Amino acid sequence: MTTNDHAISRRSALTGLGVAALAGAAATQAQAQATVTKPLAGKVAIVSGARNNMGRAFSVKLAEMGADVVVHYHRAETRDQAEETVRLVEAQGARAALTMGDLGQAENVRAMYETAELNFGGVDIVLNNAGAIIKKPLAEFTDDEFERLDAINNRALFYSLREAATRVRDGGRIINTGTSLLAGAAPGYTIYSGTKAPVEEYTRMLAKELGPKRITVNSFAPGPVDTPFFHDQETEQSTAFAARLSTEQRLGVINDILPIVAFLASPGSQWVNGQTVWINGGYLTR
Ligand SMILES: NC(=O)c1ccc[n+]([C@@H]2O[C@H](COP(=O)([O-])OP(=O)(O)OC[C@H]3O[C@@H](n4cnc5c(N)ncnc54)[C@H](OP(=O)(O)O)[C@@H]3O)[C@@H](O)[C@H]2O)c1
Repeated sequence: MTTNDHAISRRSALTGLGVAALAGAAATQAQAQATVTKPLAGKVAIVSGARNNMGRAFSVKLAEMGADVVVHYHRAETRDQAEETVRLVEAQGARAALTMGDLGQAENVRAMYETAELNFGGVDIVLNNAGAIIKKPLAEFTDDEFERLDAINNRALFYSLREAATRVRDGGRIINTGTSLLAGAAPGYTIYSGTKAPVEEYTRMLAKELGPKRITVNSFAPGPVDTPFFHDQETEQSTAFAARLSTEQRLGVINDILPIVAFLASPGSQWVNGQTVWINGGYLTR
């Protein structure tokens, strides 16, 4: 090999190094890009009550952010809708698993967490979305009606938080669904609001218990949202009244709620803990 050959081969080695360095930089940049566009890559989320409406939208949003999602639904008759949620999650390039059952029963809540662990190896994000509502004066509530609301709005939340407290991995996110009624008062919603009241308390207190594991516990409290859950309780007149209470004179829509849930699930919300975020277009404030 001549001196010139050495020079050439050194140059090609350097060029090779340059290409490798460039490739490395590109890979790092791609990785950084993926972290920005898929901040929940490698995370596993559970969303309860996800056959449609808000639960479905939350599932798809978390999938879009990179998480694999356990899609919970309540009743066998609605399996087709839950499967559609799964399809939409998978369309985001995420994995999905289904779990069914009445979450007022502790064993079904355990099964929901086990579905996450068996399919995806753990749980990082829990979105306690399932809930039930009946609008009628307290004096007219039967024992069965009270039990139906208490079972899902209150007891199921306890069961889920108990599982979450030991199963959610360090740095995880627990997000609970409250209601803006907790910041106000409205006739006919005493039992709905009363059974949802623990959401705020459990959130505040559990945040302290799980904080050392860098797990955050927050809740969000929507005002009236344009889903059948709200409309089935209301008349045209009372709907118009509720809409006028917001600063934009309208009901909330699911897309108003999504950015807050996305934020609470994201790494960037680490310093938000034990809070209830009111999402209601200024309908009620606390
Ligand atoms: N829409 C609003 O105006 C509004 C406002 C504030 C807060 N929220 C809260 O937002 C959440 C989602 O509401 P949404 O409007 O999206 O209505 P939704 O689709 O009816 O969501 C409620 C979900 O919870 C499930 N569920 C009810 N009882 C259950 C039980 N015992 N076990 C397991 N799952 C059960 C329902 O399943 P089935 O339908 O099959 O029973 C349904 O999928 C609820 O927690 C609600 O309290 C809603």
